[in-house]
Amino acid sequence: MIPSGCVPSILVALADTDAPEYDATATATCLKEPNEIVMIHNSLLRDAIEKLRAEHPNVSIIYTDMFNHIMEMIKSPERFGFKRDVLTVCCGGPGRYHYNLSVVCGDEAATTCEDPSTRLFWDGVHLTEAAYHYIAEDWLNNIVGSVSARASS
Ligand SMILES: *[C@@H]1O[C@H](CO)[C@@H](O)[C@H](O)[C@H]1NC(C)=O
Ligand SMILES: *[C@@H]1O[C@H](CO)[C@@H](O)[C@H](O)[C@H]1NC(C)=O
Repeated sequence: MIPSGCVPSILVALADTDAPEYDATATATCLKEPNEIVMIHNSLLRDAIEKLRAEHPNVSIIYTDMFNHIMEMIKSPERFGFKRDVLTVCCGGPGRYHYNLSVVCGDEAATTCEDPSTRLFWDGVHLTEAAYHYIAEDWLNNIVGSVSARASS
């Protein structure tokens, strides 16, 4: 799972609830609790995958760490060609993070940034192609690494 506490739609939805706790990096402020829940989920998932791998030694099971990939992009957006206000979405409406529940991406009144490759989030939920590109690259490298390790063992 991705760091839900940094997702613009969740940040906007929970902004007005009772004193949510925040966690700030140099570039962004995320919600603490959703990210902690996701970290627990991902840790249990990794344990389950280890068990599956042990049960099926001839099967390659690849885990993609979406959480840390995205956190890395949030902490160092410039390294990926993203703007410093890294949680601002490309396609949306007026308001914080350019995310507005009454003007969502796809609505006639929605506006789109000039260069989506400078943004981490496409709309309030999905990443841009640029962001998925970096994640996919790492994922594919893992697959290639795992297959060649298998071939040479
Ligand atoms: C795994 O692969 C090896 C080599 O091809 C084979 O001998 C073995 O039976 C396989 N194990 C399982 C559980 O399929
Ligand atoms: C969301 O968009 C509507 C319509 O443009 C606007 O009236 C409203 O003020 C916006 N909300 C925020 C928080 O900016």
